[in-house]
Amino acid sequence: MKTILITGATSGIGLVIANQLHQNGYKVYGTSRMPEKFRTKFPFEILELDITSEESIQKCMATLLAKTSTIDALINNAGIGVCGSAEETSIEQAYKQIETNFWGAVKMTRAVLPFMRKQRFGKIITIGSLAGIIGVPYQSYYSASKHAIEGFFKTLRIEVRPFNIKISVIEPGFFKSNLHHTFEYAQPVIPDYDNLRKNALAVLNDSIEKARTPEPIARIVLKIMKSQSPDFSYRVGKNSWLAPFLQFLFFRVYEFGVRVKFML
Ligand SMILES: NC(=O)c1ccc[n+]([C@@H]2O[C@H](COP(=O)([O-])OP(=O)(O)OC[C@H]3O[C@@H](n4cnc5c(N)ncnc54)[C@H](OP(=O)(O)O)[C@@H]3O)[C@@H](O)[C@H]2O)c1
Repeated sequence: MKTILITGATSGIGLVIANQLHQNGYKVYGTSRMPEKFRTKFPFEILELDITSEESIQKCMATLLAKTSTIDALINNAGIGVCGSAEETSIEQAYKQIETNFWGAVKMTRAVLPFMRKQRFGKIITIGSLAGIIGVPYQSYYSASKHAIEGFFKTLRIEVRPFNIKISVIEPGFFKSNLHHTFEYAQPVIPDYDNLRKNALAVLNDSIEKARTPEPIARIVLKIMKSQSPDFSYRVGKNSWLAPFLQFLFFRVYEFGVRVKFML
């Protein structure tokens, strides 16, 4: 049975992926910062993990390795969203955004790499975002964290290929999850932004609330797990092919589309 560690498996995208993998015969270890809350709720095991804490990562890995001798895949899914204009977002909030989404995924990756390199196989799948390819207004630090993921894993993929470790990034558009309910907002202290911020954040929240549920993302994870030679990038979601295409070929058309979408 193949063993998978998936971070942030208690809600939204991570929960759907973990359930699908479990139903398809994988041994799934999900994680949460509050495992007691969830332990009896899911059909897969939940380990304690806060990806912003080095100590928590080491403890989680020790617990996992006491239960299994191989790790077939790490799925970096855990993430948060900081919202607000770039100018109003505090540096502490900006750091927290990058610390969680980028450094969290990087630290987990560095924690599993020695084992995967030794066993000479493994897959590392990271849930990036379409925001890692295009910019989402009033989520500049979120977009930056996801752009950083693209750059890191694109490079890592080449470095670890000789050890039969396969790196992929899934780039979803909007999907229904709990993300918008846990958004951390910048203090709205600059009145110039008031109407613009209100419109953009309403569209952002609405887009997640009204989006489809994340099963298509879980299907891509299963496809990657079954593939001998997975691709680097998997875009998924409504118009997920269109925005990057427009951005690279017709930047002004793309920019106009983003302004219309976010009412800016
Ligand atoms: N929803 C979308 O439209 C969308 C689109 C593109 C990409 N994404 C990405 O998809 C991933 C999952 O997000 P989601 O939309 O499913 O949101 P979600 O429902 O809020 O789930 C986030 C998960 O991350 C975990 N988490 C948060 N901070 C953590 C930390 N410091 N340490 C460990 N775990 C932490 C949470 O677990 P606990 O609270 O139990 O610890 C939770 O299970 C994120 O990387 C997000 O950026 C989402």
